Amino acid sequence: MIWKVPYINLGKQFKNLEKELIVEFKRVMSEGSFILRQDVKRFEENLANYLGVREVIGVNSGTDALYLAIEAIGINKKDEIITVAHSFVAPISAIIRRGAKPIFVDIQNDFNMDVSQVEKKITNKTKAILPVHLNGRCCDMAPLNELSKKYNLPIIEDAAQAIGAKYNKKRAGSFGLAGCFSLHPMKTLSCAGDGGAISTNDVYLAEKLRVLRDHGQKIKGEFLGVGYNSRLDNLQAAILNVKFKHLDEYIKKRRKIAEIYNEELSSLPIILPPAPSKEKYFDTYTSYVIRTDKQEKLIKFLRENGIEVFVHVIKPLDKHQGLGLEQIVLPKNELICSQNVSIPIYPEMEKRQIKEVIDNLKKFYK
Ligand SMILES: Cc1ncc(COP(=O)(O)O)c(C=O)c1O
Repeated sequence: MIWKVPYINLGKQFKNLEKELIVEFKRVMSEGSFILRQDVKRFEENLANYLGVREVIGVNSGTDALYLAIEAIGINKKDEIITVAHSFVAPISAIIRRGAKPIFVDIQNDFNMDVSQVEKKITNKTKAILPVHLNGRCCDMAPLNELSKKYNLPIIEDAAQAIGAKYNKKRAGSFGLAGCFSLHPMKTLSCAGDGGAISTNDVYLAEKLRVLRDHGQKIKGEFLGVGYNSRLDNLQAAILNVKFKHLDEYIKKRRKIAEIYNEELSSLPIILPPAPSKEKYFDTYTSYVIRTDKQEKLIKFLRENGIEVFVHVIKPLDKHQGLGLEQIVLPKNELICSQNVSIPIYPEMEKRQIKEVIDNLKKFYK
């Protein structure tokens, strides 16, 4: 199907950057610099500066970023990590793969962790808190950071969807012991395939992560055990360095579209995400998610009219995912899963496409 409004348009993004990207592609290919070379280092420095953290470690996906961070901070079998069910499946599978147990708290209206529920879930098995900054919006980090201090619990941020997002003027990925980023094609800063990164202010943890991502070796005489092959490819890093220069402009465009949607859709009987503000929250709209009690019908209508939409957030508690988790009731989570619809938002969207989305939503509710 050729969409009038595709969900994203990476081909168009490539066209806009073609000259710069081809120069980099030729350079990297001619140099033959593919594994842990200068472009990876440059990308790590770029991202660390941008986030205001000491260290960034490039890895091969957001999923591995989470898994490696969980391992490197010393999470072991039977440890508990407090997190949310309303996210992509990766943070939960990373916890389970480590043999640890995810303990879920519900979400609030902005789709993020309801942090007021965290303290009562802390037990002597709790070893970390893992908030997910969903849809390009940070979790309410101030109370979480207080809990982290009070109970001496590290925070691992899943910032896969939130590169550039801010909370109280600080960027996602700079609040916890480790921040985990995805550079997957669907993300605001993306490479040509899979990629990820971990941010931290802890130099020792960074060194450990660099060893773990590259087969695991000795570090300062201490054996770290078995490692992985989870490096960010140098060619991907070169692509990322080109796109990095445009990241703020991409975010600005996403926020502008969100502003138009918020204004134009405000009279419809749907729940809109919070409008772009510059105060406590600076959201980047990796996704623009509306809530409707006519989820299925609306999706069908929009798709039939050439608009590519998705329900992005899956129910990780579903037994079909083979996660072996007990079913628990998280009322807000259940409600939002049955209501959410992600509509197109991306920097390359044309004015007529934004209008097409708005007009069709209005038509559906007429
Ligand atoms: C919230 C969240 N966490 C983790 C990931 C995993 O990232 P990746 O696809 O790069 O492995 C994603 C990616 O979609 C995500 O949205």
